[in-house]
Amino acid sequence: MQQKNKPGSTNPELIRNFCIIAHIDHGKSTVADRILQMSGVVPQREMHDRFLDRMDIEQERGITIKSQAVRVPWTFDGQEYTLGMIDTPGHVDFSYEVSRALAACEGAVLLVDATQGIEAQTLSNLYMAIDNDLTIIPVLNKIDLPSAEPDKHAEEIAGLLGCDTSDVLRVSGKTGEGVADLLDRIVMEVPAPTGDPDAPARALIFDSVYDSYRGIVTYIRMVDGELHSRERIRMMGLGTTHDPIELGVIQPDMTPTDSLGAGEVGYVITGVKDVRQSKVGDTITTEARPAAQALPGYRDPKPMVYAGLFPIDNAQFPELRDALDKLKLNDAALVYEPETSVALGFGFRCGFLGLLHMEIVSERLQREFGLDLISTAPNVEYDVTAEDGTLHHVKNPSEFPDGKVKSIVEPMVAADIITPKEFIGSVMELCQDHRGQMGTMEYIGTERVEMHYRIPLAEIVFDFFDQLKSRTRGYASLDYHEDGEQKADLVKVDILIQGEKVDAFSAIVHRDKAYSYGVMMTKKLRELIPRQQFEIPIQAAIGSRIIARETIRALRKDVLAKCYGGDITRKRKLLEKQKAGKKRMKMLGHVEVPQEAFIAALSTD
Ligand code: GTP
Repeated sequence: MQQKNKPGSTNPELIRNFCIIAHIDHGKSTVADRILQMSGVVPQREMHDRFLDRMDIEQERGITIKSQAVRVPWTFDGQEYTLGMIDTPGHVDFSYEVSRALAACEGAVLLVDATQGIEAQTLSNLYMAIDNDLTIIPVLNKIDLPSAEPDKHAEEIAGLLGCDTSDVLRVSGKTGEGVADLLDRIVMEVPAPTGDPDAPARALIFDSVYDSYRGIVTYIRMVDGELHSRERIRMMGLGTTHDPIELGVIQPDMTPTDSLGAGEVGYVITGVKDVRQSKVGDTITTEARPAAQALPGYRDPKPMVYAGLFPIDNAQFPELRDALDKLKLNDAALVYEPETSVALGFGFRCGFLGLLHMEIVSERLQREFGLDLISTAPNVEYDVTAEDGTLHHVKNPSEFPDGKVKSIVEPMVAADIITPKEFIGSVMELCQDHRGQMGTMEYIGTERVEMHYRIPLAEIVFDFFDQLKSRTRGYASLDYHEDGEQKADLVKVDILIQGEKVDAFSAIVHRDKAYSYGVMMTKKLRELIPRQQFEIPIQAAIGSRIIARETIRALRKDVLAKCYGGDITRKRKLLEKQKAGKKRMKMLGHVEVPQEAFIAALSTD
């Protein structure tokens, strides 16, 4: 489709930058699809569902992980406008992605499923948008569904935003109904960007990705001035300078342009392959006419959970380092540092925003970089004061000081749970089981409540969400954020195989749960480790006190036992198979532990 507003020289008055925010599954990607279709940037024959979810994992899981920015034209009142649209993820683990997208926009479309109403991430995303001073356009989606209750939920939203119910738009991402009205509303209500087109250039890097052919692709939101493709640029935070190979806009494919002007969203490629040369949150200016002051940038997110990632084949350690460096470009929330484990060799201790984030990172490392990995059980970070008064930041059970400890503090979160009122009792019970302290409770409309709890992070990151869903028949939603620390009665449980501590299996758990962890782990390992020619005790211990024990009985494993009759080829085959099997074994003292036993024992299910 022919656009009148040429990228690079668009009058900022005709630009509207907005993002779509919502609770998970309320239909952001589907509404974004209709917008792409109606504006004509994606031809009908190329259209497919969730067009902007470009990663295979996103398509397979049906969730958005990465924000995607795209430029679409929209004509209103005979005038063509340029809309910069960013589709954001909905899951709590990716709220950092949302916060970065918000900083690149002036408006936010707050999408609410008309069959569900306001949910926990609707509120958390809304508050983030308000903090960023964005204009909010409230929209009810899925109005085509027979179970939609738009009137009821419009009341809830109006109550929340202090607007009129008639201000809440009604659309269907599926049929396209109301989507054109939504685009008109965006033009009318979202303010045009306010940057100064004549000032020295300043562009905010809000995302980047590593492309093996072209190097780093940096996504930027121009704030002031202009960038030209033949002009040397400077990264203000890092102090490095580069000659851009290409500047461009995404509509929805990467389209090169000569320049990018104030208010526009686009990309820069410098041909640089060193991943340390690009930092999300940095400001780009020009070498010839540099800006005096960088843009505010972003606060680094704080990891919530840590786990060790180890290559199954230890020779892949350098590849793992390289892969993490590249992935970090596209995932600013990922942190990592090298670690060694007696049992697992060389690897990295990585920090994640939650378990879904951890799962996605391991999966991307395996798929995009072809690595076979083993990950240790995740844990949160504790501050442990040892008997001698030294303070230890424990991100890994192996960092837990030996001997007696004076005190341990654990991170806490403020959790907001929205549930239909008939499940209040079940939610309270669940939170109490997870050491939660109840705060206030408010009604949303007449049927549902929002409950506030203070809960240890370690209790919430693992199976809490699944249990919440099952106890409320899927109706409750959860959001949480950091809320200081609190003293806790925790212990480190070690697992010993034939008297040798296996660092990969150590865990920090609440004293009340230490015994059950010990029993569960020793039982699991007894089943997973094959019998060998001697007896193998498996023990769980707190310090020197043994709290659980299992024994693997001795066995002389003769693979030829069943092979009477002297068929030599068959014998050889079996012996070879046994030899191959041995290669995948780890020696722990004298005990051979198959690689699979580690994977199975460490799996969180
Ligand atoms: P995340 O990015 O994972 O947070 O999800 P999302 O908010 O982008 O939701 P998505 O667009 O993937 O939609 C979730 C589900 O709702 C999909 O199965 C869609 O087909 C369906 N859906 C979205 N919009 C509509 C709608 O207007 N009507 C109907 N009937 N279904 C819809």
